[in-house]
Amino acid sequence: MPPSHLHSELIILRELLHHEAGFVSGSALAEKLGVSRVAVWQHMKKLRSQGFAFEAVRAKGYRLSQTPASLNGTFIEALLSGPASKCPVLLLEEVDSTNDEAARQLAAGRESPFVVIARQQTRGRGRFGRSWQSNRTGNLYASFGFRPRLSPERMQTFTLWMGVSVCALVAEFSKSTPGLKWPNDLLFEGKKAGGMLTEARVDSDSIRDLVFGIGLNVNVSSESLSGELVHHATSLSENAAGPLDLNRFTAALITRVLLAYDSIAKDAHRDRFSELWVKFDLLRGRQITILQGSHRFVGTASGIDDEGALLLREKSGKLRSFRAGEVTLEKSPA
Ligand code: BTN
Repeated sequence: MPPSHLHSELIILRELLHHEAGFVSGSALAEKLGVSRVAVWQHMKKLRSQGFAFEAVRAKGYRLSQTPASLNGTFIEALLSGPASKCPVLLLEEVDSTNDEAARQLAAGRESPFVVIARQQTRGRGRFGRSWQSNRTGNLYASFGFRPRLSPERMQTFTLWMGVSVCALVAEFSKSTPGLKWPNDLLFEGKKAGGMLTEARVDSDSIRDLVFGIGLNVNVSSESLSGELVHHATSLSENAAGPLDLNRFTAALITRVLLAYDSIAKDAHRDRFSELWVKFDLLRGRQITILQGSHRFVGTASGIDDEGALLLREKSGKLRSFRAGEVTLEKSPA
């Protein structure tokens, strides 16, 4: 259970959001919380100190007039809906890696699902143990803890399904359509805006628990990034009408991921997966190179198989499937 003042603030925010167009009276809030109006006022004072503002009109009550620009765990929880509405949000100032923290929480027996978010990571990582620059406020570093009843063979499909589900959400917030570069990169016009990292602890033939981590460049300008990233990275704000409301976007992302989780857990995702895959698969028909250890394979990307392995049609006509490997896109013909 969260501390009771946080719980009260969550209820206040939920009520105000529920009546966002109108006002909520102080007495209605007091009744909802089972406390005095003075106590309500004190909770609102705490919320003000976190960056919220309330318009107060006599005989009408309160209305939310401003929300914090930086991540606020209580606000994010208040915005969650559907299967996500009971998902605890653990917001940390700094952590080594949200994936590691989620794994530690799972190992310690925390009830799933939950999501760990950090303002900064000191050892954020991506595939192949590469580091993931995570010192920017305005970006998102989040990891979900799940205990899915999935066989280990379905993990690749899990990642791809989550990937296209996230693409669908990001598309709703953007002017241009993002694409998924198998298996886990989210790109806008060849530039990377996000990456996903799924890690599972597997017992002999079942997944004991699973962490789905996602890093997204949200409100950062690529020019402010260091090294090579200046040329290869982009952000959601650069592909949207402007900066995004980080709390509302984060809540929408959690809501979408939890919905996607529910549907794959019930095996009800297949039709939608095929539809989204066609829409967001960046590779189909493109000339690609796959690096697997010291081996290099060249050919045309030809979709995925039932287990999410990437299919490559070689020049000889031979079709190969890859469960792992690093993909490089050849330049599109002019
Ligand atoms: C990749 O592109 O290789 C995947 C990058 C995944 C980065 C995210 S940030 C949140 C979570 N914590 C980590 O340490 N990694 C993932």
